[in-house]
Amino acid sequence: MEESKHVAVVDFGGQYTQLIVRRVRELGFFGKLYALEDFAEMGSPGAVILSGGPKSTSDPDAPDIDFETLNNYGVPVLGICYGMQLLNLKFGGRVEPSDRREFGPAMLVPEKAAGLYEGVSTKSQVWMSHSDTVGNLSADCEVLAKNEDGTPVSLRWGDRYYGIQFHPEVTHSHEGLRILHNFLLQADSLQEFRIDDFKRELLDKIRAQVGDKQVVCGVSGGVDSTVLAVLLKEAGIKMRAIFVDNGLLRKDEGEEVRNNFHRMGVEVETAEAADLFLGALTGVTDPEKKREIIGNLFIEVFWDRVGDADMLAQGTLYPDVIESASNAKSKASVIKTHHNRVARILELQEQGKVLEPLADLFKDEVRELGMSLGIAHDIVHRHPFPGPGLAVRCPGDITEDKLQIIRECDAIFITRLKDYGWYDKVWQAYAALVPVKTVGVKGDERSYEFAVSLRAVVSEDAMTADWVELPYPILRETSHRILNEVPGVNRVLYDISTKPPASIEWE
Ligand code: XMP
Repeated sequence: MEESKHVAVVDFGGQYTQLIVRRVRELGFFGKLYALEDFAEMGSPGAVILSGGPKSTSDPDAPDIDFETLNNYGVPVLGICYGMQLLNLKFGGRVEPSDRREFGPAMLVPEKAAGLYEGVSTKSQVWMSHSDTVGNLSADCEVLAKNEDGTPVSLRWGDRYYGIQFHPEVTHSHEGLRILHNFLLQADSLQEFRIDDFKRELLDKIRAQVGDKQVVCGVSGGVDSTVLAVLLKEAGIKMRAIFVDNGLLRKDEGEEVRNNFHRMGVEVETAEAADLFLGALTGVTDPEKKREIIGNLFIEVFWDRVGDADMLAQGTLYPDVIESASNAKSKASVIKTHHNRVARILELQEQGKVLEPLADLFKDEVRELGMSLGIAHDIVHRHPFPGPGLAVRCPGDITEDKLQIIRECDAIFITRLKDYGWYDKVWQAYAALVPVKTVGVKGDERSYEFAVSLRAVVSEDAMTADWVELPYPILRETSHRILNEVPGVNRVLYDISTKPPASIEWE
C-alpha cells in the first residue's frame, strides 16, 4: 500500500506500541510502526505518533530523534508518555525524575473540552505508566489537561505538537480512543484504511510483482494461508497450492480443506505423508523431539513438492514482521520463524522471490480481508490449530489408535460447541488424550481405558489464556456422547487450568 499520508508510529520500545497502531487502524486510518532507526525513512506521513518507552530521557543511552527531520515532516505530532517528555525537552522544558512510579488508573481533568479534548468528560479515567514527569515548561507551552493533583499531563507546543502523559491506546483509558481520534482530526487528508481499497491495491501489487511467473504457496486450511491462497487466485496469477497431510489432522480435515478450496476455485495438491510422519514419530515421547521431527519433515515434504518454482508466497502477518524485527520471541513467532525464515527461504527472499502480501495486516484485518474475498464465515473464524497438529494433544508415544480417539472426541466436542452457539465465543477448543488408563465399568464388564480431557479457552494473543465456564448442558452432552460412542475411553475431564501456569496445548 502506498505510504503517503499514513500515520507513522515511532517505536521507543513501549509495551503498548503495537496497540497504538491497532487503535489508529480501528479509527479508520492506515497506521504503521517504525523502528527508531527508520525514522528518516517514513515516506510522507500525515501524522506522527511518538510512543512510550521504558527508558528515562535522562538515561545516557536514552533513545532520541532528529528533531529537524521530525519538524520537516510538517505534520501534527503526538508524543505519548516518553514521547511527550522528549518533546518537552526539544521545546526547552525539563524532565524531572520522580522517585515514585505512577502506574495504573488516574483522573484526567482537561482544561477545555476542545481540540484534543473535544467531547471528553470534565473528569475521565486514564492509564498511567511512568516515573518521570515534565517540569519547567517553556513559555510557548500550553497545558491542555492536568491530573487531580494539578500536575500537567497533557501539553501543546505551537499548533502541531501535542503531548500526553497517559496511554490513550489501552482500554483502561476510558476516553482514550476519542482523544486519539481528536488528534488524528488535526491532520490533513489522512489516508483512510478500508479493507476493500486495501484489497484492490494488494491485487494490483501482486500482479505487478509476479507477472507471468508461477507462485507456490503452502496451505493448511488455517485462516492466514486460506486468505493468502484465495487472494492469489483472485489476482489471476499462475499458482499452485500445496497441502501437506501429516497424518496428525482432525477428523475429515484433509477432505474438508480440499472441498473448501475447491468451492473457492483453488485446486489444492495434497502431499500424502501420513505414513512418513507417523513412522518417524513411532516410540518418540519427548515433546520437543516430536516437534523437531514434524517441523523438519514438513519442510522436506513441502520443498520436495515445490521443486524449482519461480516464487514462494507466505502468509506472514504484521505482528510476525514487527516481532521478528524487534526480536521479541513469543513462542508463536519462534515457531513461525521456524517455517517462514528457514535458510532456503531467506535465500529466496534475497533474490526477491518471496511474496508476503499479508505482511501489513493484523489477524482481524486478515479475517476482514477474507470476508471481503468471499471466504465463508466459518473458515475465516476457525480456531487456531497448531502446526504439529494432534501430536501436541497426544502426550507420550503417538499411535494411530490414540489419534483416532482424539479425532472422534474432538469432533463431538466441537460439534456441540457449534450447535450451542459457543464456538465463536471461545478462542480455541479441543479434546486431548490423557495417556493414562483408569478403571471403569461398561455394561457388566470392568473396563480399563483412556481418559480424555476437553479444553476451551479465551485469549487475546495466546500468551495468556483463561478456561471458559461452558454451560453444563454442553459438557454433559459431550461427555455422554463420547462415553457412548468412542471406543477406548471411559472418563471425560474438563481442563480448568489458566495459562500461565498451564499452556493452551498439552505439549
Ligand atoms: P501454548 O500451548 O504454547 O499455545 O499455550 C499457544 C498457541 O500456539 C499454538 N501452538 C502452536 N502452533 N506450532 C504452532 O503452529 C506449535 O508447535 C504450537 N504449539 C502451540 C496453540 O494451539 C495455541 O493457539
